[in-house]
Amino acid sequence: MPFNLKGRNFLALKDFSPKEIQFLLDLSIKLKRDKYAGIRSRNLEGKNIALIFEKPSTRTRCAFTVACIDEGAHPEYLGKDDIQLGKKETVKDTARVLGRMFDGIEFRGFKHETVLGLAEHAGVPVWNGLTDLFHPTQILADFMTIIEIFGHLRGIKFAYVGDGRNNMANSLMIGCAKMGMDCRIVSPKSLFPAKDIVAMAEGFAKETGASITITDKVDTGVKGVDVIYTDVWASMGEEDKIPERIKLLKPYQINKEMEKKIGNPDYIFLHCLPCFHNLDTKLSQQFPEICEATDDIFESKHSKVFDEAENRLHTIKAVMVATLGR
Ligand code: CP
Ligand code: NVA
Repeated sequence: MPFNLKGRNFLALKDFSPKEIQFLLDLSIKLKRDKYAGIRSRNLEGKNIALIFEKPSTRTRCAFTVACIDEGAHPEYLGKDDIQLGKKETVKDTARVLGRMFDGIEFRGFKHETVLGLAEHAGVPVWNGLTDLFHPTQILADFMTIIEIFGHLRGIKFAYVGDGRNNMANSLMIGCAKMGMDCRIVSPKSLFPAKDIVAMAEGFAKETGASITITDKVDTGVKGVDVIYTDVWASMGEEDKIPERIKLLKPYQINKEMEKKIGNPDYIFLHCLPCFHNLDTKLSQQFPEICEATDDIFESKHSKVFDEAENRLHTIKAVMVATLGR
């Protein structure tokens, strides 16, 4: 059944019902099929879209840009040094200016309050492209990938292993709760998710039959899961915490030993990316032990991370089309 999401913001999954989330996922699958078939609907013809990025991005920026162009809109990238937001101008004033010129605004940055402020004052749909608290468009791509492989979300056994209090853990927990999944957050006690987010997830879980488990025990946490998910050990803006996180999270690395603990030959590995997997990058040269997933997992047949990355495009397109399209 179609849902009318026109004019809505997309700030956090908590604001959407399970049926609305399912509608966005169904639309994403349709838009992917259309793109593969060469069908261009140009649902956003003539629209101007502002893309505000306080933090760097590969996937989210490119997904918004390509989705805009596929649908006939004009994307305008506004990097942190390009605009006055937070420097010479308040969020409220910037929102009111951009709202007069643009039809929709994407924001990626630090404080969740900033995206809330933009949404309050812009008068046009605002989409959250990641804040310190939530990364909701990523979860749509993750869930779309799970549906492509398993055919459904309800009852899927899902373990997120790693930093349990970051934007990914928060959003996955809420998303899993909304969609009736068996969600385990597996992390050291000192990185357990905030109590208010857990309580919110548990509230949704009661309505949908989902289960939410927070544990520091890897063995029981990952046992039998269909999906194992991890994220970087230190998020953007937390680079000074890398040495302590390496110590804390080494036992939570996704590797062959963990694969044995999962014990499900059909499990899949997901990661929002970018991922440290025995890499030779600037940061991993500085911190050789930083590696949340070993290469033999990242490059294995279980890894669906590039399908997941591609699905950022189709899901972000669905969010824009549903909230702003004709
Ligand atoms: N997963 C994700 O948000 O990637 P980017 O930081 O490259 O946008
Ligand atoms: N937790 C990560 C997610 C990146 C997509 C970060 O915020 O850096």
